[in-house]
Amino acid sequence: MSGQTVILLDGHAPSPADLDWLLVSRALAFGEGVFTSLRVADGQVVFLEDHLWRLQSGLQALRLPLDVIDWMLLQQEMQQLATQQQDGMVKVMLLAGPGGRGYQRSPDLVWHRFLHARPLTIQSEAYQGISCWWQPSPGIAAETSSKHLNRLTQVLASINCPSGYNEALHHDEKGQITEGIARNVFWFARGCWHTPALAAGPLAGVMRRQILATLQDEGVEEGFYQLQDLLDAEEVLLCNSLQGIWPVTELHGTAGCLARWRVGPQTRRLMADFHPSLGLPLI
Ligand SMILES: Cc1ncc(COP(=O)(O)O)c(C=O)c1O
Repeated sequence: MSGQTVILLDGHAPSPADLDWLLVSRALAFGEGVFTSLRVADGQVVFLEDHLWRLQSGLQALRLPLDVIDWMLLQQEMQQLATQQQDGMVKVMLLAGPGGRGYQRSPDLVWHRFLHARPLTIQSEAYQGISCWWQPSPGIAAETSSKHLNRLTQVLASINCPSGYNEALHHDEKGQITEGIARNVFWFARGCWHTPALAAGPLAGVMRRQILATLQDEGVEEGFYQLQDLLDAEEVLLCNSLQGIWPVTELHGTAGCLARWRVGPQTRRLMADFHPSLGLPLI
């Protein structure tokens, strides 16, 4: 079963009858729902607690009580697919069913669990350092920190990023740095790591949370930053919980090359801390 694609919808293989509710669901109509993508290595979900926390915070951001989902059952399903998959990823979506009047939600709405296990493509060369494109964020959605199903910002951002760049780094309309297309950003400057605060607009990434916890004792600053802060950095990285840490070695924009960085000891150390459990390469 390892490496295959497997889908569970409310605990079963989906049947044609599921289309009856799915096609008229609020998840499809309005993007009402949350998701997360889990790395599976050695048959285990990596950072399970953080992913559950993020799904729960996402539902709270949608003003929902947590008991719309049976969390024990969901956890069992995640582990079942991780055991089958051994190495790969599982996408978990919590989907709002049909109901309500227009945008207004009905109080007895049914929520559905959708789990999709599949292989993960690892871009080995990215762990040596990537080239990144500096671009404005295409738009700011509501509840930027939660991983809701409205991902048009990221879809447009990836269309806007020229080919040849592994990722883009975004700024908002005030020029403040937010995050990558599908990654959070950290940089090391003047003896300390920095990352945009959640209030600056990034997603509350699981990998971001893990890195913040690791760096807690040595000091890490969460704040509001401009391009100049990044240009002053010694090391820069992008991260997510599926593909770990990608060192950033070049930043380009419409004006040409904006900065170059080395893959330094601070980044190597974080890769060494996290990549073995994620089953990912070191530099
Ligand atoms: C917009 C955005 N930011 C950050 C991340 C990183 O999140 P995580 O570390 O939870 O994978 C993702 C992941 O897909 C993302 O889509």
